Amino acid sequence: MPHRPYIVGNWKMNGSRAMLAEARAIDRAAARYPDVQVALAPPFTLIGALREAVTAMGVGGQDCHAQAKGAHTGDVSAAMLVDTGADVVIVGHSERRKDHAESDAVVKAKAEAALTAGLGIIVCVGETLEERDAGKAEAVVAGQIDHSLPSADVAGDAVAAGKVAVAYEPVWAIGTGRVAAVSDVVAMHAAIRERLLALYGETGAKVRILYGGSVNAGNAAELLAADGVGGALVGGASLTAEAFLPIVAAAGTGEA
Ligand code: PGA
Repeated sequence: MPHRPYIVGNWKMNGSRAMLAEARAIDRAAARYPDVQVALAPPFTLIGALREAVTAMGVGGQDCHAQAKGAHTGDVSAAMLVDTGADVVIVGHSERRKDHAESDAVVKAKAEAALTAGLGIIVCVGETLEERDAGKAEAVVAGQIDHSLPSADVAGDAVAAGKVAVAYEPVWAIGTGRVAAVSDVVAMHAAIRERLLALYGETGAKVRILYGGSVNAGNAAELLAADGVGGALVGGASLTAEAFLPIVAAAGTGEA
């Protein structure tokens, strides 16, 4: 892995203050793996409390609005995420693309707003099973990369600074226990890297490409060792320290 591996937990619509104990345990372990960058993205309601509870790991939002403020009931802006203690935000998750009909253009606007507010971003892409079966997986993902990532002029130094990450999450592998074949992951990550180099020039090499979709303690080591895999975006297995820590451990060497 050319970059510091990045392991991100996505709690989705799960979690209460009672779960902060899990986050603290994850944070203590993250401190033992300084060669791994760890972050947790809880629901909006827990971001502030999580920020106060942890020291070694990053704290993320799961979405943000493209506008800085205004009449958007129920939405949260990137600046608000910063204000409450987040340092990164996931945008374009397939659940948001599906549940909230988010287009590539919307995802791009959110990604650009987040970078402008000073957040790191994790932009999610991935094909459906129908698209894979039709042989269109790489074309679909290439289109998502081209149209969902911040443009080079907006991204500016953020790409070189490692603040832009992509998560390749095949929709059919999310929450299903069905993991993509390592050879397919390697091929897709290579295709994504090619698009990133086209988009950002040679600094496109600085974008970490995470794999996501049913990553767990049993498969993390093999996936993380695969060519071009710069980390993992983890849903179900990030909800407890017991499930998440082996994934962090698989990414790092730990302290000497
Ligand atoms: P999963 O979710 O690990 O539960 O499959 C991954 C994600 O949606 O980010």
